[in-house]
Amino acid sequence: MSPAPRARHGAQAAPARVDGRLKVTGAAGYTAELWVEGLVHGVIVGSRIARGSVEAVDTGAAEAAGGVLAVFSPEHPLPVQGSLEPPNFLDRTLHLVNGRRVDHFGQPVALVVAKTAEQAVHAASLVTVRYHEELARTRFDAAAAETPEQFAGRPAAYRRGDVDAALAAAEVRVEAAYTIPMHHHAAMEPHATVAAWEDERHVTVHDPSQGVAAVAGRLAPLLGIPAENIRVLSGFIGGGFGSKGSVWDHTVLAALAARELGRPVRVVLDRRQLFDLTGHRARSWQRLTLGAGGDGVVGAIRHEVVNAVAAHDGFGDPAGGATRMLYAVPNVETAHRQVTLHVPAATFMRAPGEAPGSFALECALDELAVATGVDPVELRLRNHADRDPESGRPWSSKRLRECYALAAERFGWAARDPRPRSMTDDGLLVGWGMATATYPAYRGAATARVRLLPDGGAQVASATTDLGTGMATMMATVAAAELGLAVTDVGVEIGDTRLPAGAFSGGSMGATTSGAAVRVAAAAARVKAVELAVEDEASPLYGAPESEVVAVDGGIELRGDPSRRDTYAAMLRRLGVPVIEATVEAAPGEAAGGYSMHAFGAQFVEVVVDPELLTVWARRVVACFDAGRILSPVTARGQLAGGIIQGIGMALTEEGAVDERSGRVIVRDLSDYHIPVHADIPAIDLLWTEGFDPYISEVGAKGIGEIGITGVAAAVANAVHHATGVRVRDLPITVERLLRAPV
Ligand code: MOS
Repeated sequence: MSPAPRARHGAQAAPARVDGRLKVTGAAGYTAELWVEGLVHGVIVGSRIARGSVEAVDTGAAEAAGGVLAVFSPEHPLPVQGSLEPPNFLDRTLHLVNGRRVDHFGQPVALVVAKTAEQAVHAASLVTVRYHEELARTRFDAAAAETPEQFAGRPAAYRRGDVDAALAAAEVRVEAAYTIPMHHHAAMEPHATVAAWEDERHVTVHDPSQGVAAVAGRLAPLLGIPAENIRVLSGFIGGGFGSKGSVWDHTVLAALAARELGRPVRVVLDRRQLFDLTGHRARSWQRLTLGAGGDGVVGAIRHEVVNAVAAHDGFGDPAGGATRMLYAVPNVETAHRQVTLHVPAATFMRAPGEAPGSFALECALDELAVATGVDPVELRLRNHADRDPESGRPWSSKRLRECYALAAERFGWAARDPRPRSMTDDGLLVGWGMATATYPAYRGAATARVRLLPDGGAQVASATTDLGTGMATMMATVAAAELGLAVTDVGVEIGDTRLPAGAFSGGSMGATTSGAAVRVAAAAARVKAVELAVEDEASPLYGAPESEVVAVDGGIELRGDPSRRDTYAAMLRRLGVPVIEATVEAAPGEAAGGYSMHAFGAQFVEVVVDPELLTVWARRVVACFDAGRILSPVTARGQLAGGIIQGIGMALTEEGAVDERSGRVIVRDLSDYHIPVHADIPAIDLLWTEGFDPYISEVGAKGIGEIGITGVAAAVANAVHHATGVRVRDLPITVERLLRAPV
């Protein structure tokens, strides 16, 4: 399951993706397609009530059905140890099928295992459950919110300065409430786990995951074995967006059932179950109150956030984060409250916090721009923060002014007539809107191993994962540059707990963390090779000063003298060793502590609106990002454009919903949960500032997985207001909402 086997293609141009050929030829399989000897199939039976308890489970008919090996339920529990409560902020509360308590519709109440997937699906339909139903809380009423003591690991309320006084003194005041429905990750690849035990104490778990070590760590106490006895493999992954960042019930169920039955078990969630059992972005209500001078300089912001959280879990989006640091505002309050409902657990979803938070904040700023008559870009420049106003620290790097200027120039913003409904094109209303993008730059520790091989290429290994983001391509690109090799001469091994500890693929920290480890390890391997060459009498580099030897064109040579040149392959042959190898850990440096680290950007959107039908089309997007150094331009474009597309979905089409009578998530597939299709998406003109952030990481990158989505929904909503004069504050912006909203 190595996502990027080493492949050499001679003088061919570097591929866009090292795994591209495998993907387009269908050779790259997902976990749900994996077959192992003796494999049997588990199907989860979900609760038909949202709150109450399981009184009885009738499994007779299912057990009598063809091919059925076992039906696990509260009446035939799976032996589990440890706690179902989350051990850390990454994980969510589990249910498995042992308890009788029901907290949400779709919660696992039984697991049917049969010889074939079809037999398991059929038998699952024969399980009947008698419930004691209790009245579920399903209505999201922000006014009934409660304040938790802690929220997302910090106090739920934050304040600096005196917001009340500053609001009272403000010349202009904007107050508005914004809502966001449940959003679903809707990754292409369904969640699936294959668990196979070697003996009672050792198991291999194939699981598409954002962190293989995290999966082993979560499973260990539940299975009652040490984490090092659990080999987790995450091969090709078809998107995660946060939904594959936690261990969910199906993974634990597969491992437990496989041990009970003494056979490998595969549990695949169908598209409907993904909506119930793998998290979503919390539904939220936000109120922004801004106080400003007539010149648009903001003196005070109050940002109240109410999330809908699950009764059994408590995860909500920390949407106030960006409000505390993005603008130079002296008086700021953010407060996170919550309404507890009997719904599936929410979890991280692309830019958790910043995606919803930037929608409210950047719409409110646009409302302030309208109220003051100050141009939206100029308004943001007047409130630009030269250092982080929350921590007081300088930025590790910030090129946001450049982003506004470059994107505005490319977009043609100067030609904008600010009056709503003033711009038209062939009978359609045209609207131009913009917003700021921001996301924290995180970085962790990771180890990479780099081997120089007898065929002249190299192999890089680190236990991170590639969700489809291009992580493997980025790792090959970074190593190739350090070793003087072509990208196609570098193989990458990832997604296996047996490899050196790698980066978690979340929080946009994969490239900053893994990229650093790969760069440092590749440099160490190169230094070893150079040392060996200059001491080897048979090398053309014998006696050369080490500091003057550079890696270039597939080998090492004396700077400025290509006649003094050696190759890794020739060295290994002469020395009679199989590989030259370096394994190095790279961790955040001490210098990092003194800086505030964030990526930034500017999003500009043009919408066209049919004045009679009120249909909205995002026709043009120009965005510029300050994400530090861009390591792999092709895959970076994929990440940034992907974020923008998900932002357009958030703005215009995506809407999850819970039926208040049953507590059931009523979007069940991709025909009623509308992620954008090609026809919804315009050409996206992407720009980035050239920069190297020396404090975040050895590769100078600030992360690109999440910043792309931030600000997009606001830029679209602001453009819709400009086109129509109608301010829609509830997402998605549908025809019905445009009709209903007051002009
Ligand atoms: Mo991301 S929401 O940290 O996968």
